[in-house]
Amino acid sequence: MPMKHSTYSVIIVGSGIAGLYAAIKISETMSVPDGVLLLTKSQISECNSRYAQGGIVGVLPENKTDSISLHVSDTIKAGCGLCDFNVVKFISENSNHAIKDLMKYGVKFDRNEKNQLNFTLEGAHSVRRILHVGGDATGYGIEKELVNKVKNDPVISSNITIYEQTLATDLLVDSKNTCRGVIAYNSVSHEYETVYAPYTILATGGTGQVYKYTTNPSVTTGDGLALAIRAGADIKDMEFIQFHPTALSIENDDSRFLISESVRGEGAKLVNQDGEYFMKDHPQKDLAPRDVVARAIYSQLSRGNRVFLDTTSIDVDLFKKRFPNIYKTCLENGIDITKDFIPVSPAAHYCMGGIKTEINGKTSINNLFAIGEAACTSLHGANRLASNSLLECVVTAYELVNHISKEELHPTKVIDETIMNIIKKYSDDNSESVSDETFVDIDSLLLNLKTTMWEKVGIIRTESSLSRAIKEIETIEKEFNTDSKCNSIREYELRNMIYVAKCIINAALSRKESVGAHFRADSIQVNNDKQDNVRDFVHEQKTTARICN
Ligand code: FAD
Ligand code: SIN
Repeated sequence: MPMKHSTYSVIIVGSGIAGLYAAIKISETMSVPDGVLLLTKSQISECNSRYAQGGIVGVLPENKTDSISLHVSDTIKAGCGLCDFNVVKFISENSNHAIKDLMKYGVKFDRNEKNQLNFTLEGAHSVRRILHVGGDATGYGIEKELVNKVKNDPVISSNITIYEQTLATDLLVDSKNTCRGVIAYNSVSHEYETVYAPYTILATGGTGQVYKYTTNPSVTTGDGLALAIRAGADIKDMEFIQFHPTALSIENDDSRFLISESVRGEGAKLVNQDGEYFMKDHPQKDLAPRDVVARAIYSQLSRGNRVFLDTTSIDVDLFKKRFPNIYKTCLENGIDITKDFIPVSPAAHYCMGGIKTEINGKTSINNLFAIGEAACTSLHGANRLASNSLLECVVTAYELVNHISKEELHPTKVIDETIMNIIKKYSDDNSESVSDETFVDIDSLLLNLKTTMWEKVGIIRTESSLSRAIKEIETIEKEFNTDSKCNSIREYELRNMIYVAKCIINAALSRKESVGAHFRADSIQVNNDKQDNVRDFVHEQKTTARICN
């Protein structure tokens, strides 16, 4: 059967909050004669966004304790000064509008008995400014309403075609550095389709799955980033991987359910098995920046200690109401927070780096845009301030639509030899596929990759651990031909994760000093210009460094 070809006005890859919000805005505000195609590799609602717990930053005029300048300052301090000031300011200034717009789409942020919005606190925020939904189900609460709009709103849905279980496997970038669309692979029918569009938007999320322990769901394999790397796009800040300090840690269970930072925001404390309150000497205690807390826990674990969240200062009924999913999940794992402390350990959580973009998602490739966690606008610098990412998804998606709605939709089916060569790789008569000839054990290669990344490119890195990691990834790469047509989503994901892993390692090798989430134990040089003095605490944890070698 010949490969199907189709044309849309806009292609959006990914159905997290960034992709869905962009789809809604495009459909509402733009003339899209060929419609919008929303591609997503699993079911529409499966993504990181769905699992967001703590909330979304709202710098709202009704919150008299807060201000744009305070939020900007908190974001830049958390990011160790590596944030782009103008981007931070812009996103902060637009948060009020973003929150009100989400409310317009049906998102019901939690309120108190006086019907006022409830604000919570997370690490490195100087005031309560985080809005939440369903207590600890913020992502689910937002995603559900946006999916509902995209699927059921008569006006919005009429412009949008949704392909579920469909993976973008390559970008169609021509010899003039212009993106003309994507190759789409349906993992159920195993059919490929060439999709053309004047605009392609990558909203493919983060990279958590390249690590053995992660809070991210299985779809988060850095695909968009890998596609962009393959196409030659500029990439930025990939050494900055955020490890969330408190994922639920159950023996013989590698999955890492998140225990939201807002549990500490509401008063929980980190202690070791001897009851030692090891964050007590930090000026911000348990609510120090995330990278600092993650390293402090790592240091405890490295000394053979266990780490727990002591929630006894939070009233039990309040806990159950405020954190219903955390309460339930702990109970399902045999932890009754009314009696037990919660065992926690760090896990890969967020990728501060990504495809380098402007605030409107523009990448270095013409007509290719990236938004959400896949992008790097430089909002987060070396360490993301909690709950800034959902806000970034919404504001950048809005700006992107604002930008492209002013442009004329130009004809797209300009197919040059470069594009023909990409299409050829995926056409049916191309029998060269990755594992036709020799058996490749994808699962064990994936496990090797994730273990290498966790052990050698994790919370603490050294030149020697990183150099060994790159060799191990290259060995995996030799066993798996990364440029052929693959036979399954898992194979494509492995291919993509190899690109992403190499990109993280090379960035980590290049940055010799420690800053934010990137901690080089072999370097005494700390980027002092970029460090807030509260971060001196980090150096007390230096004993940890040796463990990695
Ligand atoms: P995602 O929501 O991850 O969506 C990516 C989409 O792309 C998915 O639909 C995926 O299936 C699809 N996709 C990927 N590759 C392909 C491909 N090749 N082809 C087709 N489709 C593809 N941030 C906050 O601000 N506040 C919080 O409280 C918070 N809590 C969090 C809790 C957890 C457990 C996790 C994991 C993250 C949390 N974050 C939080 C981070 C935040 O959720 C993410 O940064 C944000 O949701 C990313 O949204 P996104 O739309 O960019 O990507
Ligand atoms: C959390 O709830 O702790 C996660 C918040 C975030 O990652 O922004």
